[in-house]
Amino acid sequence: MPYTPDAELDLMFPPEQIPADVKAALPQDLHIRPLASSDYRRGHLSVLSVLTVVTDPGEAAWVAQFNAMRAAPRTYYSIVIVDHSDKIVAVGTVFVERKFLRGLGTVGHIEDIAVDKSQQGKKLGLRIIQALSGISENSGCYKTILNCSDSNIPFYQKCGFEKKENEMAKYA
Ligand code: ACO
Repeated sequence: MPYTPDAELDLMFPPEQIPADVKAALPQDLHIRPLASSDYRRGHLSVLSVLTVVTDPGEAAWVAQFNAMRAAPRTYYSIVIVDHSDKIVAVGTVFVERKFLRGLGTVGHIEDIAVDKSQQGKKLGLRIIQALSGISENSGCYKTILNCSDSNIPFYQKCGFEKKENEMAKYA
């Protein structure tokens, strides 16, 4: 079964917002597109589980979260790469924060990047980051930032990012 065409899916945002050069750089049997409301069934959470422990909320709650994110316009951009069998093999999100500083500027926050173990090392992570950075820049963000472990610093450097300041966290 080939991957489902974008026009047949209920997408989080218009697919034209993913830069054409990033789409063109993928191998022919892979496709990059916005997250769809039916992607729970294509293994979205299973790919995220390479990043951290995932608690499955069930499809109805997953779809409710998708709808809540889409209801905030020009804010959440989740993307996926699907393979020839329509299974999700890579995921990522950029969240666009509105500010009072920087002339009412916006900042892109890259979150939750994951590539299925069987597909790592094939530049899919790079393509996800290029797509999200492009969306962030085309949204007018003056910078795009993310947090990562020390072991992922070389990957993000290869994607054009540089180390800046420190991350602080307080868990509830
Ligand atoms: N250390 C050194 N170099 C690396 C690493 C690493 N850990 N990972 C990738 N690279 C290099 C690659 O060798 C490649 O270099 P090249 O251009 O010289 O060949 C370049 O970075 C691009 O690598 P990709 O093939 O695009 O990497 P991949 O598709 O495997 O994706 C990722 C990288 C996302 C880290 C993936 O391995 C993964 O899903 N890991 C587990 C989950 C994870 O850690 N996610 C990131 C969390 S941080 C966040 O979400 C903001």
